[in-house]
Amino acid sequence: MSDAEALRVLARAARLLVAGEREAGIVDLPIPNAPRPPEAETRTGGTPSSAGSAARDAGPARSDRTSPAPLERATTTAASAAPAAPSGFVPRVRPLVLPANALAAFGDLPARVAACVACRLCEGRTQTVFGEGTAPARLVFCGEGPGFEEDRSGRPFVGRAGELLTDMIEKGMKLRREDVFILNAVKCRPPDNRTPAPDEIEACRPFLLEQLAALRPDVIVALGNPACRALLGQEGIMKLRGRVFPSPLPGVAARIVPTYHPAYLLRNPEGKRDAWTDLKLVMSLLSGD
Ligand code: URA
Repeated sequence: MSDAEALRVLARAARLLVAGEREAGIVDLPIPNAPRPPEAETRTGGTPSSAGSAARDAGPARSDRTSPAPLERATTTAASAAPAAPSGFVPRVRPLVLPANALAAFGDLPARVAACVACRLCEGRTQTVFGEGTAPARLVFCGEGPGFEEDRSGRPFVGRAGELLTDMIEKGMKLRREDVFILNAVKCRPPDNRTPAPDEIEACRPFLLEQLAALRPDVIVALGNPACRALLGQEGIMKLRGRVFPSPLPGVAARIVPTYHPAYLLRNPEGKRDAWTDLKLVMSLLSGD
């Protein structure tokens, strides 16, 4: 065998090995005791949450969906298009229980997202972050885009902001993270965790629309300005938050409630009171009040 042929065989073997490991949930080599990188969770976006306030359980389903209402502890729970990855850091958010068919509602969309090169964000990503949770879902949370830890793990909201979002959902709203679906306006990490640009949000919007059409939520919580831009076509979280908007999105009948992004709340904890007010509004919408 010539050197060139041997190289080709080796390259093919390596590709197969990597594909097999990805399949098994290994997307990076573990680095024992690696320190948490300082750049993690420095994004500027975001808005408030309840962070441990009392709450009531969400009520019965409002819509006429035929699938089980996710807020009633559906048995089919969560999924992330990309598996959680051990990659030198431990996600701050516990892994979700993932049934094998958890992404079935999306058809080939996760694969199309993973292959996307529609905008410049694809150049710097480790992997796309599709989103995770119950599908279909009555309640969807939309953030702005993956940060460092999301890019490494393939899961949305697994850093400090994700911890707070999880508390908002679990301690505040008394739901499980598995009961909702969490996604982002853009599926690739912007460089240095910067805010995604309007054209990047626009390039990713067809994916967001397809996700929401498959999820058929009753309520979408827009976390911060980029999510408001993607979902409502406008920004200005200070004046938009706490209001209920009918969805302007084709094929999506949900109501949209903007609130502060959790990353904003980490820097501005005084906003948590308003965020909690917004989440109570969301719960009242879900319970049909
Ligand atoms: N911030 C976001 O907007 N999305 C994530 O997934 C993580 C942090």
